Amino acid sequence: MSPPDAGARALARVFLEQTLSAEGNALMLEDATREEVVRRLAAAGRAARAGAVTPSGGRTSSDAMATGPKIAEAPNLETLAALVASCSRCTLHESRKNPVFGEGAADARVVCVGEAPGAREDETGRPFVGRAGHLLDRLLMSIGLPRTSVYICNVLKSRPPRNRDPLPEEVSACAPYLLRQLALIEPEVIIAFGAFAARTLLETKSALGRLRGTVHRYSGYPVVATYHPAALLRNPGWIRPTWEDLQIARRMLDGVGDREARIG
Ligand code: URA
Repeated sequence: MSPPDAGARALARVFLEQTLSAEGNALMLEDATREEVVRRLAAAGRAARAGAVTPSGGRTSSDAMATGPKIAEAPNLETLAALVASCSRCTLHESRKNPVFGEGAADARVVCVGEAPGAREDETGRPFVGRAGHLLDRLLMSIGLPRTSVYICNVLKSRPPRNRDPLPEEVSACAPYLLRQLALIEPEVIIAFGAFAARTLLETKSALGRLRGTVHRYSGYPVVATYHPAALLRNPGWIRPTWEDLQIARRMLDGVGDREARIG
């Protein structure tokens, strides 16, 4: 069987060390720690067993897991994009036409994060180029940000078939790419477009209506959550609150602090 991932191994080591220092009395361990170790090891074992051979031709899931550290150490966006192009950490690479890594200035002050590529994006390999993308461009212009001045990407780098909602395992497989993108770009503000991006970044199940209108933090970066442009096409009444959210991002860029930037 393939070895579990490095994170699970590290947790297991802590668990065993604590158990030894407690002379076998595992009751001295924090329950949460123990649960986490068991959960992570079980997940790593399941993934290793499930992926002995993939339908796409022989890459094993342990190969896929081995790319984990490579992602976190990618020295620049080009290297990271190449890792995405050859990625098989989930099954979406089998149905996609093109990976959609993201695009924009490597030193952008703003990173816009959407959900996942749609049909146009899958065709072209570029994020937000369909109808929702055109609206996104106009929204950004309304706060003085031409598309070329920001970085645009998605939580998922491959299109889910028929635009279905991303699955949790797809999000976990793809999240390290987004993390590394953000770490390389070091934006001043992240704008999460739509409930999916907001909930993923903020690790919450809260409704977007509760998340918008204020400034959150993700890995130290300020996050402004707002409606997805595709949702605005269906609900034009949400354009006004979206514009107000974007004003928060604008104020942050203009040097106003989190508290003063938020609405109300
Ligand atoms: N919707 C998204 O969330 N991302 C895209 O790139 C296009 C549409």
